[in-house]
Amino acid sequence: MSSNTRIQVVTVAANPANRVIFVTKESLRWPKDVAKAEFEGEKLTSVLLRNGAERTLYVGLGTKEKIQADTLRRAAGVAVKQLLKIGAEEIAIELDNWTDKAQAIVEGALIAAYRFEDFKTPDSRRKVSLKRLLLVTSANDQARVKKFVAAGEILAEATNFTRSIGNQPANIMTPAALAEEARALARDCDLKCTIFDEKRLQRDKFGGILAVGQGSAAAPRLIVLEYWGAGKKQKPVALVGKAITFDTGGISLKPGAQMDEMKFDKMGGCAVLGAMQAISCLNLPINVVGLIPAAENMPSDRAYRPGDIVTTYDGKTIEVLNTDAEGRVVLVDALAYARLTYKPRYMVDFATLTGACVVALGMNRAGLFTDTAALRESLLAAGAETGDSLWELPLAEDYDNDVKSDVATAKNTGNGRWAGACTAASFLKIWAGDVPWAHLDIAGTAWTTSDKPYIEKGATGFGVRLIVDALQRL
Ligand code: BES
Ligand code: MN
Ligand code: ZN
Repeated sequence: MSSNTRIQVVTVAANPANRVIFVTKESLRWPKDVAKAEFEGEKLTSVLLRNGAERTLYVGLGTKEKIQADTLRRAAGVAVKQLLKIGAEEIAIELDNWTDKAQAIVEGALIAAYRFEDFKTPDSRRKVSLKRLLLVTSANDQARVKKFVAAGEILAEATNFTRSIGNQPANIMTPAALAEEARALARDCDLKCTIFDEKRLQRDKFGGILAVGQGSAAAPRLIVLEYWGAGKKQKPVALVGKAITFDTGGISLKPGAQMDEMKFDKMGGCAVLGAMQAISCLNLPINVVGLIPAAENMPSDRAYRPGDIVTTYDGKTIEVLNTDAEGRVVLVDALAYARLTYKPRYMVDFATLTGACVVALGMNRAGLFTDTAALRESLLAAGAETGDSLWELPLAEDYDNDVKSDVATAKNTGNGRWAGACTAASFLKIWAGDVPWAHLDIAGTAWTTSDKPYIEKGATGFGVRLIVDALQRL
C-alpha cells in the first residue's frame, strides 16, 4: 500500500543533486545569473540551473497574494515531473516560507510521481522513480512540518490507490474483482467489509443493482465497508460511490467514439475506497460507512430494457426509459440501504453520473447538489483547499417534476437533454429521503484525457482528498 518514496524532513540537505526552490514574482531569492526577462516567476513556469553535478530548479508561484494550497500542490507536481524526466530519483524541496503548505507539497509531489504501468512490458517501463524526497526547513518548524508530511503522504497514497484501481480496464476490474480489492483494503486497514453477491442481492431485493447488472456475464456486487472510529453509539456518515465497471449504455447503446473511457464509470466507487483507506490511516475520530454498488452495464439477451419497471431495496419503483441512465438505478438501491440500515447523520454520493454535468462545468469542477447548509459549507471549503473544486448546481421542484412517472415512483430520464445533471439529482433525492444528503457529479473530473500539473492522464482520484477534508470540517 505504501509508495516507494521515502520522505524526510531535514534542516540542511548537504549537496543535494536536485534542489527545488519556489519563487513568487516578488521573491528576493532570485536565481543567480538569470535575468527577469528569462524567468519572471510566473505561475508554474520554471528554470533549471546547473552548478557542476548540482541542479537547482526554480519554480514560479506567480503573484504572492494569489497563492493557495493548490498553487503549491501544482508547483511541487511540475517540479517532480520535470526532474524525473531528467533522471532525478532524489529531490530536495526547500520549504522556505511555505511550511504551512507542506501537506499540499507532499501531495503534489507523490501524486505527480505515480505512473500506471501495470500492463507495460518491463523494458518499456519508466526507469526512473522518485526514491527519496527531502523537505528542507528550519529546526523550529520540523515538528509541525512532520505532521503535515504524514497527512500529505496518507492522502496522496489514498489518491494514487484510487487511481490505480480506476485505471484498470474493465476486463480485469469486474464487480467481483473490485469487491476483492475492497476486501484486501479492509484487511490492511482494519475495516469491516461485507460483500453482497448476486444471490444475497436477490434475497434482499436490490432490484436496481440487479437490473443494471443482469445483462453482463460479470455479476454485480454491493460492497460495504465500515469504519467505527467514534464508537458504535454515534451515527455514521455514509459515502456512496457509483461503480459501473463498464458502461456501454446497455440496450440504449452508446455511440462508439471514446467508449473506452467508460471504464472510468467506476470512479465514484473507487473514490469511496480511497477515502476509506485515508480515513482509517488518519485514525479519524468519526464513524463512516462506504457503500459501493458495482455492476457492468451491457446489452444482451438478458439485459434490462427500456420500459422495464424495477423495484428497489426500499420498495420504491423505477420506470426505466433509458438503460444508459444506469448510474442512478444502482445508486438509489445503495442510498436506500444506507438510509434504512445505518440511519446516517449525513450521506454523500460520488458518481460519474451525467454527460450534462460535463457540458455545464467542464473538466475542472464537479457539480454539487445539496439542501443541507452544513454539507454545502464543508464541501465547498474542502474543494477550495484540496483543489478538488466544486460548483453548486440546483435542486428544485421543476426538476423534481421532470422525473415523475405515470407508472412508478420515478422515471430514470428527465426533460430530454435539458438540465440533465439536475434532473438526475432530483431522482436520487427521492431515495435519500429525510437524510441530510449531498450528491457530487464527478463525470467531468474523475479522469483526464490530457496531463495536468500534478496528474498524468487517466484516473485522477478526484473526491478522495475532498471528502476527507470535508469530514474533518463537519
Ligand atoms: N456514465 C454516464 C455519464 C457520463 C457520460 C460520464 C460521459 C462521463 C462522460 C451515464 O451513465 C450516462 O450515460 N448518462 C446519460 C444519462 C441520460 C441517458 C439520461 C447521459 O449523461 O447521457
Ligand atoms: Mn450510462
Ligand atoms: Zn454510467
